[in-house]
Amino acid sequence: MKKAYNFNAGPCVLPKSAIAAGVEALNDFKGSGMSVIEISHRSKDWEAVMTECDTLWRELLHIPDNYRILFLGGGASMQFLMVPYNLMERKAAYLETGVWAKKAFTEARLLGGDAVVKVASSADRNFSYIPKGYEIPRDADYFHITTNNTIYGTEIHEDYDSPALLVADMSSDIMSRPVDVSKYGLIYGGAQKNVGTAGVTFVIVREDILGRVSRPLPTMLDYRTHIKNGSMFNTPPVFPILIMNETLKWIKAQGGVEGIHRQNVEKATLLYDEIDRNKLFVGTAAQEDRSLMNICFVMNHEYADKEDAFLTFAKERGMVGIKGHRSVGGFRASTYNACPTESVEALIACMQEFEKTIV
Ligand SMILES: Cc1ncc(COP(=O)(O)O)c(C=O)c1O
Repeated sequence: MKKAYNFNAGPCVLPKSAIAAGVEALNDFKGSGMSVIEISHRSKDWEAVMTECDTLWRELLHIPDNYRILFLGGGASMQFLMVPYNLMERKAAYLETGVWAKKAFTEARLLGGDAVVKVASSADRNFSYIPKGYEIPRDADYFHITTNNTIYGTEIHEDYDSPALLVADMSSDIMSRPVDVSKYGLIYGGAQKNVGTAGVTFVIVREDILGRVSRPLPTMLDYRTHIKNGSMFNTPPVFPILIMNETLKWIKAQGGVEGIHRQNVEKATLLYDEIDRNKLFVGTAAQEDRSLMNICFVMNHEYADKEDAFLTFAKERGMVGIKGHRSVGGFRASTYNACPTESVEALIACMQEFEKTIV
């Protein structure tokens, strides 16, 4: 198989063990003589996967008993709508830290109009930092944040103490670091970065916050429907859930989220140190807000004309997915949980080799 150092931003590199288990289950699920995509989701064998997945989430993130974990369709983008439908009665507050945060805000506005407020934004510097020193309105039904900004490489590294119920889109940093779930009312995200493949969305919700809004909720948009039915009100996306389950097993084998976090810090430190040392490159995110998951950098202005040359140089050496998002430019190396240190070292070697050809 061709060697690829995969830095894609999502879908992205996954643990080899999860892919191997997926292939096996596609061929013959638990010795049933059938593929996992051919069996009933009501079968005992499938229900065992759902239960195991729930247990692993609880164990890895130390999720308290009064929270429910849901596996839904629709992507994180569907949660931009489900969150306000289920939680907003009078007012909601949003922190704008990038395009995804903006989309969540826009969707909530469709429902709540001016009652949905933006408390702060980092749009003035192309979302290169996390706003600080703003006030969270106490009378908001919830305060929505995006903990990792995939496109810009900024991350909120702490669990905020919020006077309003805290809701977080953790699509691109879930399971990358320990999180105090009890500080959040609801956490959601698409699985396709750190916890599997596209097609399943996770929602971790404190059960008592539901049922407080006066509007009638369409059945499929009501979290309580999915809680009541163990995420099987309609046919669940079995294959993505199976890959998620296998990915969580792999995380557990890495020493859990705590072990994975240590690896993530090591990988990111290696790469940021090289960006800071190498004369050709400069990081784009504010130092204190640098993401452990998406490492964004550009060519130093003196060498701006070398951007395409570096992309070609890196591609020839097996680097995949390091072109920055079109709204930022430059480069982005996504170093999600399953990205091996070997890939980061290969990228660093490539940056150093390129430097020698220029400086
Ligand atoms: C932070 C964040 N939120 C939301 C999304 C959208 O996720 P989905 O494609 O599952 O709707 C993405 C996708 O990259 C993301 O990075």
